[in-house]
Amino acid sequence: MARKIAVIGAGHVGSEAARELIARDVGEVVLVDIVEGMPQGKALDMSQARPILGGSFFAVGANDYDMVKGADAVIITAGVARKPGMSREDLLKTNLKIISSVVREVKRVAPEAFLVMVTNPLDAMVYTAYRLFGAPRERVMGMAGMLDSTRFATFIAMELGVSPADVRALVLGTHGDLMVPVMRYASVAGIPVTELIPRERLEAIVERTRKGGGEIVKLLKTGSAYFAPGTAAALMVDAILNDKKRVVPTSVYLQGEYGISDVFVGVPVVLGARGVERVLELPLAEDEMAALRASAEHVKALQKEVDAFLSAEGLI
Ligand code: APR
Repeated sequence: MARKIAVIGAGHVGSEAARELIARDVGEVVLVDIVEGMPQGKALDMSQARPILGGSFFAVGANDYDMVKGADAVIITAGVARKPGMSREDLLKTNLKIISSVVREVKRVAPEAFLVMVTNPLDAMVYTAYRLFGAPRERVMGMAGMLDSTRFATFIAMELGVSPADVRALVLGTHGDLMVPVMRYASVAGIPVTELIPRERLEAIVERTRKGGGEIVKLLKTGSAYFAPGTAAALMVDAILNDKKRVVPTSVYLQGEYGISDVFVGVPVVLGARGVERVLELPLAEDEMAALRASAEHVKALQKEVDAFLSAEGLI
């Protein structure tokens, strides 16, 4: 039987993720949204590119969860996106309500699925999903580090005028201003970037990475980034369902790694058939470790708000 991937929220990020999944032949895609006709229309449109491009699977659209039944993986992008001047945290209250209802629906029809969360504020939304879905941490994760890292790599490639394919970069921590781009671990074809780019230029690149999402929000004016985020979420699902053992910075529930516990924060993990198969613990310098701890503290405060909401609603 073909694999089934559900994408909840057929807006900008969701439709890009769905398109990438069928473009890569990962499986059939069910695109779900509350807006009537919209997921069906987008699914039909992207499916109509298959005969030209080749590939075996279509996307189908829906306004309920019947076709999500038995999905192998679910990407959740439902919710509102940032407008200029907003932080990701400003979205917490609205998206918390949406995510808690979506996750309960997914649990009803696809309790064995891998969940990849995309909705912001990312780490708090993954925590919400984790509390409500009732699966081990291997199956509930957040897409953010892959996006922040590819932004960091993009700026390095632009600075040096080299192919982005040769750049590797790593961003740890929360998906927000407190993210931790690690200069020491960025490289171009194996050469540390610290050997290629002067320190003050690298610091400017790190700063641009931290504000990478905001830069796009400011330019778009009506919403936030979606091409790179949608692609990243699709690639995480591809890595899991095809057991690729890709090393991907992922928001994962730390349980003692890096000396941090009970909080979702971005660290490199191995993604394969068991989901988050391994958390890779890297040696970090004191300032990098302090920055990671600050990220974790920030997310912990948001997790408390999530707990307060979920218990007031009688959900936990
Ligand atoms: N169930 C299903 N879909 C929903 C629900 C719900 N309960 N509530 C809202 N949606 C849908 C909206 O109808 C909309 O089509 O979620 C979609 C969100 O799409 P966009 O507004 O285009 O937002 P997008 O840019 O895709 O961002 C989605 O991902 O990157 C994050 O910060 C971003 O939180 C935002 C999310």
